[in-house]
Amino acid sequence: MTEPAVRSDTTDGVPAPGGTTRGFRRSAAAQRRLHELVPGGAHTYARGSDQYPENMAPVLVRGEGARVLDLDGNWFVEYGMGLRAVTLGHGYAPVVDAVARAARDGVNFSRPSVWELRAAERFLEQVPGADMVKFAKNGSDVTTAAVKLARSATGRDLVAVCSTQPFFSTDDWFIGTTQMTAGIPAAQRDLTVGFRYNDLDSVRTLLDQQPGRIAALVLEQATATAEPAPGFLEGLRELADADGFVLIFDEMITGMRWAAGGAQSVYGVTPDLSTWGKALGNGFSVSALAGRRDLMDQGGLNTDASRVFLLSTTHGAETTGLAAYLAVSDAYAERDVVGVMEAQGDKLRAGLEAAAAEAGLAEHVTIMGRSSCLVFGTRDHEGNPSQAFRTLFIQEMLERGVLGQSLVISAAHTDADVEATVDAARGALAVYRRAIDAGTTDGLLRGRPVAPAMREHAAPRRLPDPPEEG
Ligand SMILES: Cc1ncc(COP(=O)(O)O)c(C=O)c1O
Repeated sequence: MTEPAVRSDTTDGVPAPGGTTRGFRRSAAAQRRLHELVPGGAHTYARGSDQYPENMAPVLVRGEGARVLDLDGNWFVEYGMGLRAVTLGHGYAPVVDAVARAARDGVNFSRPSVWELRAAERFLEQVPGADMVKFAKNGSDVTTAAVKLARSATGRDLVAVCSTQPFFSTDDWFIGTTQMTAGIPAAQRDLTVGFRYNDLDSVRTLLDQQPGRIAALVLEQATATAEPAPGFLEGLRELADADGFVLIFDEMITGMRWAAGGAQSVYGVTPDLSTWGKALGNGFSVSALAGRRDLMDQGGLNTDASRVFLLSTTHGAETTGLAAYLAVSDAYAERDVVGVMEAQGDKLRAGLEAAAAEAGLAEHVTIMGRSSCLVFGTRDHEGNPSQAFRTLFIQEMLERGVLGQSLVISAAHTDADVEATVDAARGALAVYRRAIDAGTTDGLLRGRPVAPAMREHAAPRRLPDPPEEG
């Protein structure tokens, strides 16, 4: 595969809106049209134009490996990779070919296909702590289904979510805990309570305050910025066994990024249920709910108890998503995909930290997280997290051919991609340095700062601190 150079093919020579020298004119026009036709101008809030510097929100045409091409002919090295869904790279041929072959044989029948059987067998080999699995299309579908199973199994109504972690589902039981509560009844919001990551006492307090009412605890075992403290996950397991709540690990990000077997295989604690999506299909739509037979079977035909309506949808077992998962799983069996991501992430971290140190910005631009899932932090001249400085960094990286709200890598990021990123960062950091010296981004930032995706008002009244994650 020929690797596209990081370049701009824009030849019309007309400065784009906002005065950037890299052309974004066609993207800006397409984005305006998207805003007329699609609420928010993008399906996913995290992909919205408010997440990018003003007039520098590329609308993409295609991707190849770790690079993406926008409407103006700009190629970028991409980070984030489809909201962390793509670990093998864009257009990864073995997955695309497997999907195409499956599609030619028909994607949706009146009975289950062999793809469902093959995918279930493979998944349960990959995640030995689970007895049964049910596939779906989105991560939110399966996390919500896990909560429902837990409520049914325990006969309890409250759900406890880790309130120091960012996201679990687009459904009301979780969105009701965020700032975007419009349209969610208070009665629904009252059913979700919070506990803190790495704080077993906060879980114990909850169990004391709500005796016999907590149906489930939902959390990610780790995030880009936080690893489990010794004994934390084991402690949750003990509390679940003693109290009877269902322990649900959300493996949406960690699954196939920490390890093929998920974070549960890394930290060695087995949940009652786990929920998977994102990297399962390298960007194709497939998610999974997996776990203990006695729980999962409540959605089946072998139960005397009341049946749970568990993930029964028209498209849930579409053959293409399942074929994508099988091809992804083959790729993980053939080579050490996570090992490659970690090695490239290490190089990226080392290069960026050296560049920040050279610019005297080691305290201002920081690289955090697991090597396969890096994020960056941006601080202002006083050392405070700053959306304006974050936006300036993203702006200057975009200008130099790097697109990313994070530094989340894939196994397709080559040494050349990493070097191009570090080169871009050297230029971006020189501009950042000027802003630090001036004590302001004024005159350097070309538009308004980015805003957090989850906020109450479309136009934020006050800009909160930037999230640690991209
Ligand atoms: C940890 C976590 N859980 C659940 C979800 C929901 O997944 P989906 O967007 O596929 O519905 C996300 C999405 O970003 C997530 O990051």
